[in-house]
Order: sequence, then structure tokens, then C-alpha cells
Amino acid sequence: MSIIEKIQSQGGHPSGIIGTLIGHMMNMAHGNIYTWGLQDITIPMNATCLDIGCGGGKAVRTLAEKTVTGKVYGLDHSAEMIRLSGRTNHAFITKGIVEIHQGSISTLPYSDAYFDMVTAFETIQFWPNIPNNVMEIKRVLRPSGTFLIVNRYPPEQSKWSDFLQLKNAQAYENMLNAAGFHDITLDTATKTGWIKVAART
Ligand SMILES: C[S@@+](CC[C@H](N)C(=O)[O-])C[C@H]1O[C@@H](n2cnc3c(N)ncnc32)[C@H](O)[C@@H]1O
Repeated sequence: MSIIEKIQSQGGHPSGIIGTLIGHMMNMAHGNIYTWGLQDITIPMNATCLDIGCGGGKAVRTLAEKTVTGKVYGLDHSAEMIRLSGRTNHAFITKGIVEIHQGSISTLPYSDAYFDMVTAFETIQFWPNIPNNVMEIKRVLRPSGTFLIVNRYPPEQSKWSDFLQLKNAQAYENMLNAAGFHDITLDTATKTGWIKVAART
């Protein structure tokens, strides 16, 4: 396995000591990505939010700091990331503002129309069946709910692009249109190497 394949494998399902270390590194490296991703989105004071593929849990904490009287859930399939997210969000969990759950994007353990917003930071490339997984997100979002995707956006000819399932902005737009989302906005210009996509149910 090449070094790139090893990093990708750990990124998709962080495990063991290396996985926990990667979770800490993502928490440190992605802070500005959460800020950029969320900067144009109005989060209602009492919003109920879900961060899918929550990794080390820093995006969950960022959302919890914004929601005021709302509630934020983090979901990840990695046991190590669940533990790390729990530590990252300890204070909010104690106050009942945050819950972290182990589970898969394939079958979200939440009822229909439960969330005002679902976020996915650097995780969509790992999902097993993006068209179905996005329909599952639509199921748990309320009418007019927001789905925010933030992901790496390398040049299409690069070897990092090989690894991505959605290789350009058009692919994101097509995928969201096919799932029945509307008000789709895409930003590939304001942060080099990253794409931000927002859509509504
Ligand atoms: C590259 S990490 C990003 C973590 C975090 N969102 C961040 O920005 O730092 C991708 C995360 O998605 C999670 N993930 C990948 N596939 C998943 C799936 N099918 N269901 C739930 N979580 C998944 C991984 O376990 C990992 O924590």
C-alpha cells in the first residue's frame, strides 16, 4: 500500500493510535475550514444540527458554540473518533447541548425531518453510495433545511483527484439536483483547493 493509500485509508476510517493522532491533527488543521464553510450560513439560535463524519469533533464544537439554545449531534463510524469527539465536546455534552453517536451514513439513526442543518466536512469522498447517502440526509432534514458540504478540491488531473468520487463542481450540482435539493450554491473560488456547497431541501 502506498503512503497516499495509507493516509486515505486512515482518513476514511481512523483506527488505533495512528487514527487517534490523525483525528487530533484534523482538529488542528481544519479549524479555518469550519469557519469558512459556515461563514455565510445563518444558523437559527435553536437549530438542531448534525455533523456527519465528525472525526475529532471540532466542527461539532464550532456548531455548538453558534447554536446558543440548539442541539448538535456528531456521527462517525470510527470508535476512535467517537471517543475523541467526546473529549473535544466534553463541556457541551455535560450541558446536554451535544450528543456523539457511532453509526454510518448509510442508515442514519434519526427520525425523518429531525434536523435544520446537516454538515459534511471532508468526508463525502469516503461514503459508500453517495446518491443513496444524500437521499438519507434529505430524509432527516426538515423542509427548507440546509445541507452543507465542504471538501478538498484538487486540480482534476492531480493524483489526489483520482481518489475523489466527485471530481468537479458540476458533479456536486448534478448529485444534489438528482436528490431533489434546490437553492444550490457552489464556491470553488474563495479558498484554494477547497469546495463549499450548500443546498436546501
Ligand atoms: C477525513 S476525516 C474528516 C473528519 C472531520 N469531518 C474533519 O473535518 O476533521 C473523514 C471522517 O469521515 C468518517 N466517515 C467516513 N465514512 C463514513 C461513513 N460511511 N459513515 C460515517 N462516518 C464516515 C471517518 O471515520 C472520518 O472520521
